Amino acid sequence: MRTSWWQGAVIYENHLPSLRDGSGDGIGDLEGLTQSLGYLSATLGIDAVWVGPFFKSPLLDQGFDVADYTQVDPVFGSIESFDHLIAVAHKRGLKIIVDYIPNHTSDQHPWFVESRSSRTNPKRDWYVWRDPKPGGGVPNNWTSEAGGSVWEWDEQTGQYYLHSHLKQQPDLNWRTVDVRAAMLDVLRFWLDRGADGVRIDVAHMLMKDPQFRDNPVAPKGNQNPFDLQHPDFGTQLHVFDRRHPDTQAVLAEIRAVVDHYPGAVTIAEIEAMSWQDWAVYYGAGLDGMHLPFPFRLLETPWRADLLRAELDGLYASLPTGAWPIVALGNHDRERLAKRLGPEQARVAAVLLLTLAATPCLLYGDELGLIDQPVPLDRQRDYFARASGGVSRDSTRIPMPWDDGPNFGFSSAPEGQLWLPVARNGADVNVEAQLRDPESFLNLYRRLLRTRADSTALRYGSIDFISSPSAKEVLAYARRTADDHKVVALNLSDRPATVDVGVAGTVLVCTTAPAVGSAGLVLELEPHQAVVIDVRGRRP
Ligand code: NOJ
Repeated sequence: MRTSWWQGAVIYENHLPSLRDGSGDGIGDLEGLTQSLGYLSATLGIDAVWVGPFFKSPLLDQGFDVADYTQVDPVFGSIESFDHLIAVAHKRGLKIIVDYIPNHTSDQHPWFVESRSSRTNPKRDWYVWRDPKPGGGVPNNWTSEAGGSVWEWDEQTGQYYLHSHLKQQPDLNWRTVDVRAAMLDVLRFWLDRGADGVRIDVAHMLMKDPQFRDNPVAPKGNQNPFDLQHPDFGTQLHVFDRRHPDTQAVLAEIRAVVDHYPGAVTIAEIEAMSWQDWAVYYGAGLDGMHLPFPFRLLETPWRADLLRAELDGLYASLPTGAWPIVALGNHDRERLAKRLGPEQARVAAVLLLTLAATPCLLYGDELGLIDQPVPLDRQRDYFARASGGVSRDSTRIPMPWDDGPNFGFSSAPEGQLWLPVARNGADVNVEAQLRDPESFLNLYRRLLRTRADSTALRYGSIDFISSPSAKEVLAYARRTADDHKVVALNLSDRPATVDVGVAGTVLVCTTAPAVGSAGLVLELEPHQAVVIDVRGRRP
C-alpha cells in the first residue's frame, strides 16, 4: 500500500510570479524558484513543489491563459531554466509538479487563431462554436466563472465560442479526437523533461453536456462566503456546463499517459462537490486521478463539529486503496490568516499537517501572510475587470524573504513589481521569523519535522475522538503498528477540555514551546492545538 512518494509527501503550492524574482524584472520566475529550493527543502522541509503556470501567456489569468503549452514565457525564464530547476530539485530530493491546463487556452494560442479564422478551418472544432439560439442571442444560459455569459460573439465567422472563464480563455473541445491527441502530447512533453507529476486545472470541466441544455437557476444563489467566484456564477446550478459523466473517460486517458512515467502523480483541481461525487474522480478501479482536491474543506466554516462532519464524509467516501490530498489555502481564496485570524491560522497549520492525507501548503501561509488589498492600477487579475468581479491579487502578493529592498523578493524598483509587497513585510518575513522561536515559520518547521519523523502522521490510520465540546474541539488519534500520536485542536477562543484516554509527551503546541507531558484529559487553552506522542505510554 505504502508505495508512492506522494503518500508520504508534503506539497508546497508555489505561485511562480510571487515567490522570488531571479532575473530582476519584478516578477517571480523559474530561476527565483530554483534559488529558493534550499529554503523549501532544508529550512522548511517540504517534499514537492507545485510550480504554477510558466507557459507562454498574455498573463490575463496569471498564466492559466496559455498561448503555447510547450514554451516557457520569457518572463518566467526559458526551457533551460526549467531543466535547471528539475536538475537542482532532484538533486535535493524534491519533486516538481507542473500545471496542466487542459480545459482552455488563451485566445492568442495559434490553435484558436486558426479556429476562429473561418468556419471551414480544420481546427474549427478544436473549440466549441455554436450558432445563436433560434430567434437570436446566446446559445444557452451558462454563466462564466469570471462573470457574464460563457458565450462570446465572433463577428467574422458569425458564431459564438464558449469560454468558461475570461472571454480571452476559449474552452478546448475535448470531444474532438485531435484535441485529445494534441493535449496528451503536451502531457508527455513535460513528463519527458522530468516533471514528477501534474496538477490538472479544472479537471471536472473537460466535458460538457453535448446538448448544451440550460443550467437550472440556483434558488438561493451562491451561499459560500469563501468562494471568490463572480456572483453571476452563483446564480445557477452548474449541472450541464461541466462534470458530464464522459469527463471520467478523458481523465482515465490522461492517467494512462501519466502511468508510463513511474511515480508520476496526477492532482486534480475539481470544484467543491458532495463527497460521493468527489470520490468518482479517483476513477473506476482507481484508474482516474491519484489525488482529487477536496475543496469542501476550504469552504467549511471554521467550527470543529462542521469540520468533523466533512472529514467523516471524506474518509467514508474514500474508495478502498485511494489516498486523499488536503489543502486549507489556495491561490484563488482568501488566505488562512485573514479568514481565521492569526491564532486559528496556527491551529489550522496543525490540522493541515496531521490529517491522514498528503498536505498541500500555499506559499506564504507558513509565515501567516495575510491578503492585502491591491490598488486598482496595480491589479493583474482580469477576473476583477468584469463588473462585480473579485480580484485574487490580494492573496498572491510577493513572498517576503528578509527586511531588505522589496523584502528580498526582487531587485527591481518597487513600482515595477508584479504586485506590491506586503505592508507588514518588515515583521513578516522568512529571516525575521527564523529568529523568533514562536513564529509561524518555526511552528510550521516543527510540524513538518514531527510529521517527517512519524510513520503514524504520514501513513497511519485516523480515529476521531469524541468530546463534549464538539463545536470547539477536534481531536483524533493517528496510529501505525509502532507509532501513536494524538492531535487535539481547540478551534475556539475559550478554554476547552477533551478526554483523549492516553497520556504522552507534547511534541508541538501552537501557544507555547512544546514541553512536558500530557495527561489523559487535556485542558486546552484558547486557540491551542497540540500534537502528542503516545509511543510507549499506552496504559
Ligand atoms: C482554476 C485556477 O486555480 C484559477 O486560478 C484559474 O483562474 C482558473 N482555473 C482558470 O484556469
